[in-house]
Amino acid sequence: MGKFSNILIAGSGFMGTHIAYLNALKTKACVYVYDSCRLSLEKSQSTIKDIGLKAIAKGKLAQADFDDMLGRLKYIDSLDKLKGLSIDLVIEAIVEDINVKGELFAKLDGLLPSECIFASNTSSLSITQIASFTKRSQNFVGMHFFSPAHVMKLVEIIPGLDTSRQTVEDISQFAVLLDKQVVLAQDFPGFITTRLGLVLINEAIYTLMEGVSSKEEIDTAMKLGYNHPMGPLELADFIGLDICLNILNRLYTGYGDSKYRPCPLLKNYVASNNLGRKTGRGFYDYRQVEKGGK
Ligand SMILES: NC(=O)c1ccc[n+]([C@@H]2O[C@H](COP(=O)([O-])OP(=O)(O)OC[C@H]3O[C@@H](n4cnc5c(N)ncnc54)[C@H](O)[C@@H]3O)[C@@H](O)[C@H]2O)c1
Repeated sequence: MGKFSNILIAGSGFMGTHIAYLNALKTKACVYVYDSCRLSLEKSQSTIKDIGLKAIAKGKLAQADFDDMLGRLKYIDSLDKLKGLSIDLVIEAIVEDINVKGELFAKLDGLLPSECIFASNTSSLSITQIASFTKRSQNFVGMHFFSPAHVMKLVEIIPGLDTSRQTVEDISQFAVLLDKQVVLAQDFPGFITTRLGLVLINEAIYTLMEGVSSKEEIDTAMKLGYNHPMGPLELADFIGLDICLNILNRLYTGYGDSKYRPCPLLKNYVASNNLGRKTGRGFYDYRQVEKGGK
């Protein structure tokens, strides 16, 4: 069963939904999914059903196990509903904003027992800084999943300045129970994965801006030359160019080092609201792809 029997997933967006599915699938815990937006919760519930039904159709999940996990997933749209529940782990996956995350954790800090571990799925914010909104910095840790969280093997675990060894151990063991490979990273901007991933993306955008090669050739070079499943410009479109720019700005100010300065071409895309796949156009034009061409 594992150490945790009542888990709260805060945020039912893209990441929270897959993290909730993973937790219900791999543990026998009750998994509470909380979001302040009711529509997001409804969408999350139906996405989880779709993922489960696809897994059943592929013979990867038994109907009885799916029914069992659905019975342990509960959706709540108000923190009042946490009263009386002995939540022992929170995994937060709400919007990437230090004040919004801080406000939520401060509220949860007042509602949940002090031994309950708080984990944040932030990609780029300081764990130490988010933890400072609570009185439980020893029980606060970064638990960074990758998208989609029920498929990707990696979890990056990030202790803040005051996180206890016991918390790191408990969360590492829990990640293994979720069938993940753990890497530990210290709490410096971008940890391992966000820092290295964004440096490559930013440099690829500079390479494009300087006319070294075309977008297609830059992506092909990294796919075939380095065996990357996606080229860096395709990946930037997939992540969202606004998110890439925000992270680069955080790396730039966090380290005060010019090597992280965001490429002006990236800034232009964001200023013109061409943010990648989600707006239909970024480095590539997805509206044309949908119509059948490129
Ligand atoms: N998208 C990715 O590939 C990815 C990968 C790793 C980590 N992350 C991190 O995961 C987190 C979530 O990202 P996402 O892509 O799932 O975002 P998303 O926009 O899909 O979902 C965010 C959810 O948070 C909810 N929310 C916002 N404020 C809230 C509040 N105060 N209380 C409760 N719910 C609130 C929203 O209603 C929404 O459903 C971010 O910190 C992000 O950096 C994202």
